[in-house]
Amino acid sequence: MRKISIFELTPGMVLAEDVMNFEHQTILAKGTELTDVLISRIELNGILSVFVEEPGSGSAEIPEDYGPAPQQPRRDVPPPPPGSSAEFAPSNPSYSERIRNSREFKEYKRDFDLATDEFKFKLNDMVENNSAIDTGELLQEPLKLIEKSGSGSNTFDMIHNMRDYDDLTYAHSMNVALLNYVAASWLGWSREDRELAMLCGMLHDIGKLKISHSILTKPGKLDAIEYKHIQKHPIHGYKILNEKGVNEHIQNTALMHHERYDGSGYPLQLSGESIDRFARLTAVTDVYEAMTAARCYRGPLCPFRVIEIFEDEGFEKYDAEFILTFLSNVGATYVRNACLLSDGREGEIIMLNKERLSRPVVQCGYDYVDLMKHPELTIQSLL
Ligand SMILES: [Fe+2]
Ligand SMILES: [Fe+2]
Repeated sequence: MRKISIFELTPGMVLAEDVMNFEHQTILAKGTELTDVLISRIELNGILSVFVEEPGSGSAEIPEDYGPAPQQPRRDVPPPPPGSSAEFAPSNPSYSERIRNSREFKEYKRDFDLATDEFKFKLNDMVENNSAIDTGELLQEPLKLIEKSGSGSNTFDMIHNMRDYDDLTYAHSMNVALLNYVAASWLGWSREDRELAMLCGMLHDIGKLKISHSILTKPGKLDAIEYKHIQKHPIHGYKILNEKGVNEHIQNTALMHHERYDGSGYPLQLSGESIDRFARLTAVTDVYEAMTAARCYRGPLCPFRVIEIFEDEGFEKYDAEFILTFLSNVGATYVRNACLLSDGREGEIIMLNKERLSRPVVQCGYDYVDLMKHPELTIQSLL
């Protein structure tokens, strides 16, 4: 099977996987032969890519007795159109490079930039001119981004590669808002709560607008006084939002998103369920967003490396249900993805290990490499 852009679908192609909408409802079943009407239906659901059978491959099922069959590794992004700049990219571009070169990503990035610019204007207007917060209006653009991305995994892939910003507040907050929406849907929250989670993400760091720009953008390590200033942003944020009289979960998220489940956070050292549910969710997505952000010396971190950092740090800092649901869905996004192991072998991620999400089972040719049993190996990158 292969994953292709909906722009490349043609009648007669056969779906190799169920096609799900963002609500996790199946809209077309695996094995369906596509027609013009069905392709339009996929498009209308905002889905950007689907898995189809290779021509002449017959059923996607592998009979159990026959053992593993060599499979086409998942390629998430279609090849660049002839003549595009991407055509001249290195012959073996990385997973991130392929996403960034895709038409879907370029469109997403354009929409994201517009949404973020507008968000920046509204946020500054709120803080500097003391204007009212229209939460319904704030939600419009990020909701459009979610609708266009089509599924949790797609949104996730896009967010994961939106990393060329030297931005500590606006693009970060927009990404946390989108991650909150996706994470809340993975948790089965209602539409109302998903939208509220999105607003919480958008406004969680609003207090940073009260922190001096020189501290926020200081390239080196912060000294103790500067760090104390930064640590006041949750209180500043809470005050701004409290004065505006917004929903109390939004106020609480601004105040509590740096609190930790085990009481090790700030500013109030709250613990457990005394931390607002929306702040507990935002704690996970906020840290994930910050960890995956590209630095000047590297691109975005491999998601399995990020999961490993969370695992090494220990889950007790976070709400167990939220962190496990989030990370297992992040991992699941990359099942069937081609990857490069640290010993130089290329393979395909075929199964997650529930006890250690950063160490899935990888199929290399006819070998199954269970990374749980090979601590010396890691996933170096996605291909
Ligand atoms: Fe923050
Ligand atoms: Fe943040």
